[in-house]
Amino acid sequence: MKVGKSMIWLTILTLGALASITGEEYKEKDFSYLIGMKGFSDKMLKMHFSLYAGYVKNTNLILNDLQKSDGYVFGALKRRLGWEMDGMLLHEYYFENLGGKTPIDPDSGLYKQLKQDFGSYDSWEKDFKATALIRGIGWVVLYQDRQNGTLYNMWINEHDLGHLTNAQPVLVMDVWEHAYMPDYGIDRSAYVNAFFDNINWGVVQNRYNGGLSWKK
Ligand SMILES: [Fe+2]
Repeated sequence: MKVGKSMIWLTILTLGALASITGEEYKEKDFSYLIGMKGFSDKMLKMHFSLYAGYVKNTNLILNDLQKSDGYVFGALKRRLGWEMDGMLLHEYYFENLGGKTPIDPDSGLYKQLKQDFGSYDSWEKDFKATALIRGIGWVVLYQDRQNGTLYNMWINEHDLGHLTNAQPVLVMDVWEHAYMPDYGIDRSAYVNAFFDNINWGVVQNRYNGGLSWKK
């Protein structure tokens, strides 16, 4: 079969365009296994998954559009990228550290580190929950300083303000209003308790171990 020059160029251009997109593309992760989790209605979880999908979509769109932008549009997209991408990644950390059914292992390295840094597990939990009740929208992240292993409960404003450089997120909690208001109204503390009832401590412990891997 004879293939025309225009067909060849069309194929090259199409493959080129696809490569520029797929090279940077993030895929939405499936957290539907969390449906049915106690204290989180199916309706609220499904709505939250949809919001997360929006961050994945916008991160990919911005990464793609940045390649063909300049001037103030380039600047505006660069500024927006951190907000959308942190929104995507924080939701993944959040959903991944839910769905647990057993309490923290008191013999684990994480438990011992919490005790060392906060005086006791209960003191750490009290500090984390107090951080979660700060007025405003954002996230609470238990961060591990990779330099010395020290743990900090940090308040992240919206998605992108307050992160620690070179620190490992260990436990991540969404405290935007959409994360609890459909089920709990303004009673954020009831949501915080439901979150604690569902923490997947195995995942959290693995992150803690990973954060210390720089020592090996
Ligand atoms: Fe959220």
